[in-house]
Amino acid sequence: MGKTLGVGIIGCGNISTTYLKLAPLFKRIEMRACADANPAAAKLRAEEYGITAQSVDELLANDNIDIVVNLTIPDAHFAITKRILSAGKHAYSEKPLVLSLEEGLELKKLADEKGLKVGCAPDTFLGGAHQLARREIDNGTVGKITSGTCHVMSHGMEHWHPNPDFFFKPGGGPILDLGPYYIANLINLIGPVKRVGALTSMATPTRTISSELRKGEVIPVETPTTIHALLEFAEGATITLSASWDVWAHRHNNMELYGTDGSIFLPDPNFFGGDVLFGGPTKKKIKPLKAWKHPFGIANQKHPQGAMANYRTAGLADMAAAIVEKRDIRCSLERALHGVDVMVSILRSGEEKRFVELETSCTRPQALGIAEAKALLRQ
Ligand SMILES: NC(=O)c1ccc[n+]([C@@H]2O[C@H](COP(=O)([O-])OP(=O)(O)OC[C@H]3O[C@@H](n4cnc5c(N)ncnc54)[C@H](O)[C@@H]3O)[C@@H](O)[C@H]2O)c1
Repeated sequence: MGKTLGVGIIGCGNISTTYLKLAPLFKRIEMRACADANPAAAKLRAEEYGITAQSVDELLANDNIDIVVNLTIPDAHFAITKRILSAGKHAYSEKPLVLSLEEGLELKKLADEKGLKVGCAPDTFLGGAHQLARREIDNGTVGKITSGTCHVMSHGMEHWHPNPDFFFKPGGGPILDLGPYYIANLINLIGPVKRVGALTSMATPTRTISSELRKGEVIPVETPTTIHALLEFAEGATITLSASWDVWAHRHNNMELYGTDGSIFLPDPNFFGGDVLFGGPTKKKIKPLKAWKHPFGIANQKHPQGAMANYRTAGLADMAAAIVEKRDIRCSLERALHGVDVMVSILRSGEEKRFVELETSCTRPQALGIAEAKALLRQ
């Protein structure tokens, strides 16, 4: 089966269970240890998943660990990823990679100097739905994409997350928290962004937690919670992106892309599966595209809303395979850094009330078809 890389996790909160549960689906990676600023959190996860709990320093010095996954809160991403690289290990971070372009460039320099790799979530664009859209766009079904709309709007995170504070601090907010899913998929589908403009606001200066543990506690809002952005892509497409946690109900689709030969409708890029629809000059009635048997579109989890496909850690597995095979990482530092540039420039545009030209660019990742996805999975 070839080389397997040992993986350690720093940050044993909410999302760590998803990584620990799903990692065994994939070749090339083996979860071995975990650490957290709160040792009790690391101990709990270690016991649940049969791995070793360590301190952060011990994990960084562990010779059985090749890649460290950074699942801490956004505010800690830069410092922890820097420590991972300084310890001589490859790093894979949850989104957002960092909170400023400067931090991202510093990580890139450090990784390059040390000959190490950095990867970053989201990896949901590797899902069956988004890769079907990618195949159709690459095949020319939609023609040249000229415009589109993205909407990610709800009424916030304080009703489900046990510690929702970070969502409402600088580094949180809907654009840095949920924008990465949309921007990563837009990069996957149409490439890099050239310039952005935005209007930003917040509906209320505080939020009241309604999730169980801290129910009734009032927390401050320190970052915009409604953002209406315009993105101009290097290839010419102009896309609107509306991200808000101030909306109780709406009737917009998640993602609609309009091309010279038709329109394609995508499901929420926060998830791997769902229907992809198409309508065009000869198919005016919008209909789902014929589903394909993509491994990352097959429902593998039960949820109150129904069965769904969840293959988070696919990006980490692709990074491990890319390191072994010496090829490009789909969820690469270059693309995550461009995503950060897009997001912080959107927020800056809102503050400065002007369009902002991006400083970075990137390539589209290689498509992940059925064969490539199967190659990442254990049989
Ligand atoms: N929860 C989700 O559903 C979800 C989904 C996708 C992505 N994410 C991303 O994953 C990351 C973590 O989210 P979460 O919901 O698991 O957060 P969380 O608050 O539940 O967990 C974060 C953990 O990191 C630990 N931590 C914080 N700073 C640390 C430091 N400096 N050193 C060591 N440990 C530290 C905390 O003690 C905590 O246990 C965020 O970037 C978030 O955007 C979360």
